[in-house]
Amino acid sequence: MMPATGTTPLFEVRDLRVTFEKRGRSLEAVRGISLHVAPGEVLGVVGESGSGKSLGMLASIGLQPRGARVSGSVRFKGRELTELPRAEMRSLRGSRIAMIFQDPLSSLNPVMTVGAQIAEAVWLHNPGMSKRAAMDRAKDLLALVAIPQPDRRISQYPHEFSGGMRQRVMIAMAVANDPDLLIADEPTTALDVTVQAQIMGVLAELQQRLKLGMILITHDLGVLAGHADRVAVVYAGRVVEEAGVNDLFARPGHPYTRGLIASIPNMASQTDRLFSIEGSPPPIGTLPPGCPFAPRCPMARDICRRDAPPMLFEGAHGAACHFAFDRAGRAA
Ligand SMILES: Nc1ncnc2c1ncn2[C@@H]1O[C@H](COP(=O)(O)OP(=O)(O)OP(=O)(O)O)[C@@H](O)[C@H]1O
Ligand code: SF4
Ligand SMILES: [Mg+2]
Repeated sequence: MMPATGTTPLFEVRDLRVTFEKRGRSLEAVRGISLHVAPGEVLGVVGESGSGKSLGMLASIGLQPRGARVSGSVRFKGRELTELPRAEMRSLRGSRIAMIFQDPLSSLNPVMTVGAQIAEAVWLHNPGMSKRAAMDRAKDLLALVAIPQPDRRISQYPHEFSGGMRQRVMIAMAVANDPDLLIADEPTTALDVTVQAQIMGVLAELQQRLKLGMILITHDLGVLAGHADRVAVVYAGRVVEEAGVNDLFARPGHPYTRGLIASIPNMASQTDRLFSIEGSPPPIGTLPPGCPFAPRCPMARDICRRDAPPMLFEGAHGAACHFAFDRAGRAA
């Protein structure tokens, strides 16, 4: 993968693989993800359910499930994370690198006040801080994520918050220690549409105000149109297209990306009906030879079923398709 020119990446993942051993077989769920995020940049990571978005990003910061084997390189500010002792990795997480998990509503402790939980996230990385100062910081953080009446809200319990307000609390906890990188895994999927837009607004404002590098994981490419600088499209455990967001929408190089764009509801109004990509992604361990998208691809040719396509680049825009950017004769 080509790093953005002229900037040292804040976060750089190269050839990340995550493998499970099941009944004597090695099942590769993440098959060589490479991506990079510049300081202050928002990278959208998009793909269908099961494509390896969560697993890949969790494994990149040492949070892979038990029994998973991880290989590849992950650099944060040039420092190799895969070789860090566990304690150092743990201290990096929650301070310099923060994560909002895919199932955030169940991550809050129901028997602890919201204020105490945020203060705990602050204490964990600032053990010398007084209880009072940590509670004050918690209050400031509630205000930062636009929760009204933080003085009152701080002593309430999670069940007294709506889903959207709880998600704001999760965001407040994630940025409690002023991280450089925030990984947000489907931060709005559990919420209704109006609240989703509000939460994305809060995240976007925070990202700009704190100059956060951000990885925004979603299965909805539409969300990325207004919120990402660049996009990495993941299919079957690998990045199949990466580009600046405008370039991606204007000139998608991979048929899978074209399918994702055509399935965005307000894009579909330009055609007569909502498109959906036929079929489903191959379950892990059952990849066909050649291009993994071939069984679903309207453009598949013999070469696709035989040879896996390399990533072809046009500048910083890459697509893993034999026929990307009209190469090798699209009509062949
Ligand atoms: N502990 C595990 N053991 C075996 N396979 C696993 C394990 N955890 C994840 N996987 C497999 O890895 C693949 C990728 O899962 P992952 O959760 O990363 O998908 P995702 O892209 O985040 O999807 P979603 O949009 O549904 O969140 C899936 O096929 C999943 O079944
Ligand atoms: S390589 Fe072939 S099957 Fe794969 S996406 Fe491109 S055209 Fe489709
Ligand atoms: Mg996921």
